[in-house]
Amino acid sequence: MTTAATLSVLGNETLGTVSPLLHGHFAEHIGRCCYDGLWVGPDSAIPNEGGFRTDVLDALAKLPIPLLRWPGGCFADTYHWREGIGPAGSRPRTLAESCGLNVVESNALGTHEFVALCRRIGAEPYLAGNVGTGTPQEMMDWVQYCNSPLDTTLARERRANGHAAPMGVRFWGVGNENWGCGGNYDAGDYAKEYKRYATFLRQVQAGTTLELIACGDSNRDWNLRVVEGLRNHLSLLDHLSVHRYWAAGHATEFTEDEYYQIMRGAELVEDDIRCTDEVLRFFTAGHPQVGIAFDEWGIWHPQANAQAGYEAPGTLRDAVAAAGVLDVFHKWCGRVSMANIAQIVNVLHCLIQTREDKMWLTPTYHLFQLYAPHQGGTALRTTLEAAPTRDMPAFSKPWPEATWGVGTLPLVSSSATRKDGQLVLSITNRHLTQPLEMEAALHGLSVRGGTLHTLAGDAANASNSADRPARVGVQTSAMDAQGGTLRLTLPPCSVQTATLALA
Ligand code: AHR
Repeated sequence: MTTAATLSVLGNETLGTVSPLLHGHFAEHIGRCCYDGLWVGPDSAIPNEGGFRTDVLDALAKLPIPLLRWPGGCFADTYHWREGIGPAGSRPRTLAESCGLNVVESNALGTHEFVALCRRIGAEPYLAGNVGTGTPQEMMDWVQYCNSPLDTTLARERRANGHAAPMGVRFWGVGNENWGCGGNYDAGDYAKEYKRYATFLRQVQAGTTLELIACGDSNRDWNLRVVEGLRNHLSLLDHLSVHRYWAAGHATEFTEDEYYQIMRGAELVEDDIRCTDEVLRFFTAGHPQVGIAFDEWGIWHPQANAQAGYEAPGTLRDAVAAAGVLDVFHKWCGRVSMANIAQIVNVLHCLIQTREDKMWLTPTYHLFQLYAPHQGGTALRTTLEAAPTRDMPAFSKPWPEATWGVGTLPLVSSSATRKDGQLVLSITNRHLTQPLEMEAALHGLSVRGGTLHTLAGDAANASNSADRPARVGVQTSAMDAQGGTLRLTLPPCSVQTATLALA
């Protein structure tokens, strides 16, 4: 059996620019993400550049990684940046706490190392500040230390520690999940605290205009009350963050229903965006745009728990579900200003996994590779004229807040962008067992050949591993498509990106 779909790509209906920041990432000091995954230290037997694993650096540099958020997550609200600067041997050994894990933090990976990592892989750094156990002064000092061109004691200290030029860090998060792990604030209290922090952070004029990210939530009430609390001080607010995790069944052993429920994560994300957009439109009318920073998102499988260091194998199912989320970000590129999948290496919905000296790429790494040509492009509206759907039962486990009602899931998702004489079209076939015959009508566009990249595998639960690092990968072939109609055949549970020259 084969399913069929028809899609229109509307060349004259543009939605905005797909900022590369929508394809951002997140590295937290939790489990084996930062230590082991990224950082092994300069004395490790594992090949490294200044302490960072060479194999991981090379894989990340290839993608690209436009944006990297660090050091947390929940870790950020107990992190004191001064402990991570200065000679490696004299840094304190502190208690690292995030999501129930208590381990020794060597502070070997600190601000300088993180910024060096970003430069090496081409990422813009995004630092998450400490509101929970910190002070506005501590965060102002961090900004000054990183960015100040003046001859202050803090800037001198940065220079003495090896970074002569200001680091030019633009993105600063004012706390993380302060409704929960970041201090269990009441929304009104957080809004007051945010104003205090942001007022003083704005005063550090250090050559780089800071963009401040306030802590939002997928909880409508929190966002409403925080933004209402800031409505008379909107100049302090550049972005409001939203986080969304979801799960359905085990990472690799799941029922057909659970397979499809995972695909509904894109709906949850879109619902979060729609509701946050309404709050922002209501309270910020007439003011410069406040972006939604979707700075943590991804699938959090139940076995990726504290005992497992928040690790689970990444499957083709996860990558296909992530495609739907990227499609939603592209569609909302006029409002969503950045997005960071959680997390970059080893932890949760990661792109890369490591074991000792072995490294392999997850299907989600390949998905980001497939979507990279959309970065910087102009998003075009697409409409599905006909597509298979599946009736979905209600579902509300294991995250009570990630509840789906009875619904209808489209089994096709898409993104289209144009840039520099090229049309980029990504199509996802979510059907678990059936291939998809897709006909795409290009309106106001005509193409003359291109390349087709296909992410598929032998099973939806297929994953890569140290022993089988290339079980799931990307196949590339030439396309001789000409004119205004494209015909594609997608395997079950797959994603294709066609990059086409515009005539
Ligand atoms: O990504 C893991 C954790 O999930 C982060 O520390 C926290 O922000 C979120 O709850």
